[in-house]
Amino acid sequence: MKTYASLQWQNGILRLLDQRLLPHQQSYLDLKSVYEVAAAIREMAVRGAPVIGVAAAYGMVLAALQNEINSLQELQTILKNSAQVLVASRPTAVNLSWAVQRMLKAADEPGLRTIADLRDRLLREANDIAAEDSRTNRLIAQNAFPLVPDTANFIHHCNTGGLATVDYGTALGIIRFAHENGKKVHVYVDETRPRLQGARLTAWELSQLGIPHSVIVDGASGFLMQHHKIDLVTVGCDRVASNGDVANKIGTYNLAIVAKAHGVPFYVAAPTSTIDPSIKTGHEIPIEEREPSEVSQIGTETILPKHSAVFNPAFDITPAAYITAIITEAGIACPPYEKTLPLLLKKAQTIHRNCS
Ligand code: MRU
Repeated sequence: MKTYASLQWQNGILRLLDQRLLPHQQSYLDLKSVYEVAAAIREMAVRGAPVIGVAAAYGMVLAALQNEINSLQELQTILKNSAQVLVASRPTAVNLSWAVQRMLKAADEPGLRTIADLRDRLLREANDIAAEDSRTNRLIAQNAFPLVPDTANFIHHCNTGGLATVDYGTALGIIRFAHENGKKVHVYVDETRPRLQGARLTAWELSQLGIPHSVIVDGASGFLMQHHKIDLVTVGCDRVASNGDVANKIGTYNLAIVAKAHGVPFYVAAPTSTIDPSIKTGHEIPIEEREPSEVSQIGTETILPKHSAVFNPAFDITPAAYITAIITEAGIACPPYEKTLPLLLKKAQTIHRNCS
């Protein structure tokens, strides 16, 4: 069973499992400032849309805990500046700005009269965001259960498990829940170039959970679907636009097209905090471009000729037309997403209000 936590708050310190070192080393970073949290997000010591939102929330708490804050006004200024630092650390996943905005809103509540009041309120909000994430993932898994055949061969892309969340995972949580509740599952794990989140992280989590799996190169998915071995594809996502277009790890779009060509259901799993109602389509989602070294090297070994250029977009946009359904904690959205996503957002508010 799970013997690791992606993130923990321990007496004023944010403890993060350093995901860059997995699967070979299970080592934790102890972070004491908002700048250290922003760096851990930027450098992908912690990664995955939901958990970077939670890490950022605790980053705001660390900003508020720094010494020598003399007034509430000064603390509010520190929080606003810290919010900008955190949001700038990675652009695509909306959970980051969603969590930071929630923290700013909590800090603005009337009745917070002292610095101690404000610090307490921020810690409570960060703890709520973390608890909500954990609860949400189990609901996503339960909602998806009827969609999973009794014997199911999955393809999964990137990493969406307990490492990418506070606990349990989104798309990987669906697989875990099906396995724990008696379905016979096998997961074909896309290795997910360039950073190999599938090979390094998803395969590691599945091994810990005892779930049967085989790692494949990203280009193998078409072959597998052509030979009728795949029942469904499940992926997570970093942002959902109002029309149902989704941003997810680079390669998701290719996978969705192949799934559609072969009539394989393509499911996106996400908490409603990943839905961004402020944007109409995926064209408005900023796509992060990352270091050339992620492509030119595997580990520390350079694999490209010296003068070859690299282009390294970290995410792509899968148009809604390729997505069979978007599975959230508040239920399953099917097309037309413009109509179904707002209903789920409304329902999610009630769920989280009743549970908090
Ligand atoms: O660059 P990463 O590793 O942060 O990308 C993560 C993904 O694309 C995940 O699939 C996504 O965040 C969903 S996580 C539940």
